[in-house]
Amino acid sequence: MCNLRWLFTLFICYVSLTVAQRSARKTSPWLTLKGHRPLVVARGGFSGLFPSSSIYAYELALTTGVSDMILWCDVQLTKDNVGICLPHLNIANGTTISSVHDKGNKTYPVNGVLTSGWFSVDFSFDELNNVFLAQDIFSRSPVFDDSLQILTVEDVVKKVKPSGLWLNVQHAAFYSQHNLSMRHFVISTSRKAIINYISSPEVNFLRSIVTRFKASKTKLVFRFLEQDETEPSTNQTYGSLLTNLTLIKSFASAILVPKSYIWPVDKDFYLQPPTSLVLDAHKEGLEIFASDFMNDVSFAYNYSYDPVAEYLSFVDNGKFSVDGVLSDNPITPSLTFDCLSHLGKNKLRQGQCFQ
Ligand SMILES: *[C@@H]1O[C@H](CO)[C@@H](O)[C@H](O)[C@H]1NC(C)=O
Ligand SMILES: *[C@@H]1O[C@H](CO)[C@@H](O)[C@H](O)[C@H]1NC(C)=O
Ligand SMILES: *[C@@H]1O[C@H](CO)[C@@H](O)[C@H](O)[C@H]1NC(C)=O
Ligand SMILES: *[C@@H]1O[C@H](CO)[C@@H](O)[C@H](O)[C@H]1NC(C)=O
Ligand SMILES: *[C@@H]1O[C@H](CO)[C@@H](O)[C@H](O)[C@H]1NC(C)=O
Ligand SMILES: *[C@@H]1O[C@H](CO)[C@@H](O)[C@H](O)[C@H]1NC(C)=O
Repeated sequence: MCNLRWLFTLFICYVSLTVAQRSARKTSPWLTLKGHRPLVVARGGFSGLFPSSSIYAYELALTTGVSDMILWCDVQLTKDNVGICLPHLNIANGTTISSVHDKGNKTYPVNGVLTSGWFSVDFSFDELNNVFLAQDIFSRSPVFDDSLQILTVEDVVKKVKPSGLWLNVQHAAFYSQHNLSMRHFVISTSRKAIINYISSPEVNFLRSIVTRFKASKTKLVFRFLEQDETEPSTNQTYGSLLTNLTLIKSFASAILVPKSYIWPVDKDFYLQPPTSLVLDAHKEGLEIFASDFMNDVSFAYNYSYDPVAEYLSFVDNGKFSVDGVLSDNPITPSLTFDCLSHLGKNKLRQGQCFQ
């Protein structure tokens, strides 16, 4: 373990040095809303390598990525109202809880659908003391499972000291049913720490906090789920909510969409022409982030298995650029944005990236 850490440290030093040198270089203008370089948001940290939302995953994302890396935390609340970072509402996916509290399996309605699993609302933070993080995507190495503790949002702020913090509140309505308030949690956290982004797929949750954050630096982001899924507070599908971005603008300053909203794929997994969504969002004054970037989960054949080519199609296509990407492998968009974008035909410059 120690040897491994040491090797990683070396690797990290090398990469952060080269990334830093690159940041200084002038690039051509970006077609983002405000013209800045797209942001890199690390979903649970470098979750492609270490268990999601672990201290190693967050630290590796910070040390190997762009200098303004944003760390994403999926917030769940414990019975005693502690905000913790875990990727799923069913906390058995991503932790060892099913073996530690083997009778903790419960069934609750989640957005009207009965759902079984282990829920943080049934456990106090102390009861999670001997529960460890584990991979939630089984193609990833289990070597680091069973050794890293669950982090609170406060741990991430104080121990990791992120350059930017993104809190995703996926299930505010579920926690309300259990008398736990996500609204109260994000407002009280914002008094103690800088939250750069708060996202949610629930209209009512964002509406309930919009006036509280209007005069702050915190940006509210409406997260679109798959087009045929129903948004719980309006009963409309996300696909139909997409047709009125003016409405979205009344409670959010940005949107986060699955990458297929921008570059759809057909049934054979080939890319179709891009939609006008990025341009439409920018016209409305909304920033737009794309999600679901992972190096180890298959993506459209047109990219020939090259994740850099995929990122480039979202930020350097001559027509539009998203304002940021949500990635499990944040080192890849960091290198792509700082180093491999806007090279045009001048492939020689690419050599500088790997000197
Ligand atoms: C949890 O409980 C449900 C309902 O009793 C059951 O169907 C399911 O198999 C259980 N899951 C696990 C992992 O034990
Ligand atoms: C855990 O989450 C991952 C990632 O979202 C998903 O692919 C997987 O099916 C989930 N596993 C279970 C047992 O729910
Ligand atoms: C939530 O609070 C209400 C009112 O105090 C109470 O009736 C209800 O049983 C509580 N629900 C839970 C899940 O604790
Ligand atoms: C949404 O639809 C369900 C079922 O059709 C209904 O029970 C519920 O009251 C509706 N909610 C809203 C906010 O319209
Ligand atoms: C879109 O939403 C705005 C703001 O709520 C509303 O005024 C407008 O009528 C809506 N447009 C359509 C086409 O529904
Ligand atoms: C992706 O590849 C397919 C098959 O070659 C092609 O028909 C399609 O036009 C390509 N998509 C884009 C956006 O270039």
